[in-house]
Amino acid sequence: MNYDKLDKRARKILQVNDRGLYTVPTKGLYPYQWNWDSAFCAWGIATYDVRRAWAEIETLFTGQWDNGMVPHIVFHKQAIGYFPGPDVWDVPRVPHTSGITQPPIAATMARSVYEQDKHYGRVHMELLYGRLVSWHRWFVKYRLHDGMVAITHPWESGRDNAVDWDGAMANVDGSNVGEYTRRDTAHIDPEMRPKKEDYDRYLTMLYFSRDCGWDEDEIAKNAPFRVADVGMTFLFLRACRDLLHLALELDHETDEIQGWITTLKGGVERHWNAEHGHYDSIDLRTGEFANSLSTGSFLCWYAGIDHPQMLAHYERIMGVVPFGVPSNDPAASTFNPKRYWRGPTWSNVNALIAIGLAEMHHITKAEELRKATQSLIAEHGFFEYFDPYIGTPEGGDNFSWTAAIWLTWASPHAKGRF
Ligand code: GLC
Repeated sequence: MNYDKLDKRARKILQVNDRGLYTVPTKGLYPYQWNWDSAFCAWGIATYDVRRAWAEIETLFTGQWDNGMVPHIVFHKQAIGYFPGPDVWDVPRVPHTSGITQPPIAATMARSVYEQDKHYGRVHMELLYGRLVSWHRWFVKYRLHDGMVAITHPWESGRDNAVDWDGAMANVDGSNVGEYTRRDTAHIDPEMRPKKEDYDRYLTMLYFSRDCGWDEDEIAKNAPFRVADVGMTFLFLRACRDLLHLALELDHETDEIQGWITTLKGGVERHWNAEHGHYDSIDLRTGEFANSLSTGSFLCWYAGIDHPQMLAHYERIMGVVPFGVPSNDPAASTFNPKRYWRGPTWSNVNALIAIGLAEMHHITKAEELRKATQSLIAEHGFFEYFDPYIGTPEGGDNFSWTAAIWLTWASPHAKGRF
């Protein structure tokens, strides 16, 4: 395998998807700036251009709302072929944005960009720090329930149609959304995307929050969907630890962040589903566990949390799939190796899980996961996601975060850690 060539190809993908000061996830399917995609891109771009990596993060934060929220999409300039676009979200600010957030990995990725070149990054980090703190404060103020992070829309999780949301989604009435035209299924095989009944509900949730003027208190009380997302709790805990590290580095007050970490660790315990023996999401409207073992649960190590039962589940699953952690348990009746977050393996999530495993001293497992993802990309290309059994590429091609993950972690020439 010619790895030099693959390194070059990964850089080329990031350059082709570069829109000047931000990177689109892939041409056509996702023509705007997405929140956690951009954070992954910054990490990848920093392997060859630290200045451009800082611009990526700073451009994302031009979308930050006055209340601190960093939206899941920033619509810098009008593009065709995406639904729901800025007119549907109807957020009264410029640049136009969506009205919901996404996994807050920016503090973690900014830390890694900063550490790539501290001399150049110091002033950028100083300026970004306050913005990161206000985003984290927004989460703490509006989204923490007993120390667990609540999402108000499945898109906030970054794992759009994961089985984690099935129970809560069933209680959302999607029958009144009216006519609309999806654009995603014009780009990608519909078998690989969420179903129409999912989309009806996604829009119902969007309209509810939009129609109450994105009022977080009203959304908390009355929105049709509210789930404590185990993946978000782990990612936010990780990000708070990285923010704490940055606070120490920059000589800022740390008490507030330390308090968040303690609260989140309490939340992690509440995510434990004792009956099924794994970390799990909880429908906050009914109090019921999702009873789903998805990649959200396996982000525990990345948050600095180890558990023998999680390791046992991990070993069982990795014993049957050769190409990295599937987004749903292959033993579940809901498993589908094609349909997006209901079975396929994703390189970005594999990287986070493996980095967590390595940090928690499961070095061999971490290295095996890296090798599996390496051959997946090397043999099948820089796709959005893949069939975890046979590696068939799925979703969008020339995908930015897959390229970024190659450069930072999956390539034999990559550092393979933060
Ligand atoms: C999909 C994914 C989400 C990602 C976005 C852009 O919505 O589920 O995680 O951020 O596409 O790539």
